[in-house]
Amino acid sequence: MDNLIKDIDILPAEEAQACEYKVTAEENTGKSKKLYIESYGCQMNFSDSEIVASIMKENGFDTTATFENADVIFLNTCSIRDKAEQTVRKRLQQFNQIKSSRPDLTIGVLGCMAERLKEKLLEEEQLVDVVVGPDAYRDLPNLVLAAEDGQKGVNTFLSREETYADISPVRLNSNGVSAFISIMRGCDNMCSFCVVPFTRGRERSRDPHSIVKEARELVAKGYKEVTLLGQNVDSYKWSPEENNKARLNKKEGENVQIVNFAGLLEMVAQVNPNLRIRFSTSHPKDITDEVLHTMKRYDNICKYIHLPVQSGNSRVLNLMNRTYDREWYLERVAKIREILGEECGISSDMIAGFCSETEEEHRDTLSLMDQVQYDFSYMFYYSERPGTLAAKKYADDIPLPVKKRRLQEIIEKQNQLSLSRNQLDIGKRQEILIEGVSKRSDDYLKGRNSANKVVIVPKGNLTIGQYVTVKITDCSSATLFGELLS
Ligand code: SAH
Ligand code: SF4
Ligand code: F3S
Repeated sequence: MDNLIKDIDILPAEEAQACEYKVTAEENTGKSKKLYIESYGCQMNFSDSEIVASIMKENGFDTTATFENADVIFLNTCSIRDKAEQTVRKRLQQFNQIKSSRPDLTIGVLGCMAERLKEKLLEEEQLVDVVVGPDAYRDLPNLVLAAEDGQKGVNTFLSREETYADISPVRLNSNGVSAFISIMRGCDNMCSFCVVPFTRGRERSRDPHSIVKEARELVAKGYKEVTLLGQNVDSYKWSPEENNKARLNKKEGENVQIVNFAGLLEMVAQVNPNLRIRFSTSHPKDITDEVLHTMKRYDNICKYIHLPVQSGNSRVLNLMNRTYDREWYLERVAKIREILGEECGISSDMIAGFCSETEEEHRDTLSLMDQVQYDFSYMFYYSERPGTLAAKKYADDIPLPVKKRRLQEIIEKQNQLSLSRNQLDIGKRQEILIEGVSKRSDDYLKGRNSANKVVIVPKGNLTIGQYVTVKITDCSSATLFGELLS
């Protein structure tokens, strides 16, 4: 394998943290107006943009990949760290320059920053026309119409019921192979550092039948992989009663069945044996043995768990209000290894330099990483968010250079671990799903194995969307390289 092909396709840890965004793809179905959406933040936000595109499509908009061609520009924003908000502010300034020469252009801010700042955004960003929070997207067409008449609008109502279950998302940036399915919205955990409960509202689960229906439709369109999305998928819980639909669904004397996450996983796994299932995010306090056993029972449920630990020290975890300690977390990991074996991929999120974290406590994070042997991590330094429990209760007292140095140590540790975990795969046979062309060379394709690792293979006669068995021949800390086994 030539060096050119190496260290590509997955970004090194530092770069992976840079705020990435996705834009809408070009779609031309003859509608009269054009919508451009730029999405920041997590997979849930990308998934929401597909719902937004669907709502706008019903109201006369095709999507465009070129903002210069757009009648409406939406920024679907993220508030998770200060840097995420700063990136959006800069982008807004660029769009506002265009707007000064094109007053007919409508600019909307959606998502978490819209929810956090509400009317204040209209005051601070004079050229923004509409501000719409994550539960109010059905109101977008009205607000855009009003904006075209010169009326600015804000809707940041947070709902206890909205799941957009009936909306069939327009797949944006799709490779035609993998798609996201939102299974729940909001979050009821109150991790002290986190803004999400304030920007996304209360947790609610989506009707499992609508989820299965969406998975079936994706299979019919040729998709091979779905990722079930929620901030805390293990607390997924649905019953007709709980979701206030008892009147519609329950007959006299009928037992109302509650569907938990393990049950939902099983329902989706049974849609089609050729449809791979992934899910994110699992919460260490909630992940059950039942979920792990369900993963084991179905070959098409990928053996990969994103299980963010945040810190390896129990005092810090307590301050973070994560409601588990180091021992609990390590017991969950031991259970994963016991039920799903060494090959199951495990990844994490880490926060360096949380309020009052000592050097010794920081080293506990490094030692926990060694113990778990993570395949991959998303790593951040603590960024205080206004309104959160930590902002109210604890001083953000770790100096920035110290936060950055601790983060760097965490990143270096993860790079070593990723490399040694990847080396264990060399010589193994693995089934991969081909997702697309390798970024550097058209002669190679990239696929993913069950553990969520990117595998680069020579193109040969392979096609995108195909399952193939490969032998792993080489690796970097970010990527595996394989050859086709006939
Ligand atoms: N629901 C997921 C996380 C969603 S936010 C979970 O509970 O794991 C994604 C990640 O961003 C978090 O896991 C955390 O590592 C990071 N994060 C959240 N708030 C942060 C903050 N204030 N500063 C730095 N990182 C933060
Ligand atoms: Fe934030 Fe915690 Fe909810 Fe994750 S579980 S979204 S970190 S509050
Ligand atoms: Fe960001 Fe909101 Fe997701 S704050 S991480 S876009 S839920």
